[in-house]
Amino acid sequence: MLDTEATLEIQQLVAEFKPGNADLLRALHKVHHRYGYIPKESMAVVARQLRLSEAHVYGTVTFYSELRLTPPPRTRIDWCSGPACRIKGGEYVRTALESVLEIGMEQNTPDDKLGLHLAQCNGTCDFAPQIWVGGKVVGPLSAADTIKLARELKEQA
Ligand code: FES
Repeated sequence: MLDTEATLEIQQLVAEFKPGNADLLRALHKVHHRYGYIPKESMAVVARQLRLSEAHVYGTVTFYSELRLTPPPRTRIDWCSGPACRIKGGEYVRTALESVLEIGMEQNTPDDKLGLHLAQCNGTCDFAPQIWVGGKVVGPLSAADTIKLARELKEQA
């Protein structure tokens, strides 16, 4: 729940936008840029400013995958879903991550310290199967390596 100060800040952020759908994406991107995600409560503020329904704003936010609905995690873990990583056992890595962290793809741990994301091949297939922890390649990983690493990350977080 946003406090009054946060609500006022969002009102000021989107005050320049005129009623109607034309400015909706620009308003959402401005909120996203400020907070790193779209706080649920901010959608009501944006809807009020643009005189749109909250359902319309919510539908737009969920349509665009680049707009996050949850805060960015402190540490982002990308799981490579590319062909080389899959052939070399990437699915075991994914299962191990999801199991130890107790979250699925595109989710954060409840404390938002770790987030798991599905990634595409970045050309570093020599290290397959791999993940990226905070953007740094870690691989090749066995299922056992992954379990150990995920436990360490969970403890550090
Ligand atoms: S397939 Fe994973 S890095 Fe290329």
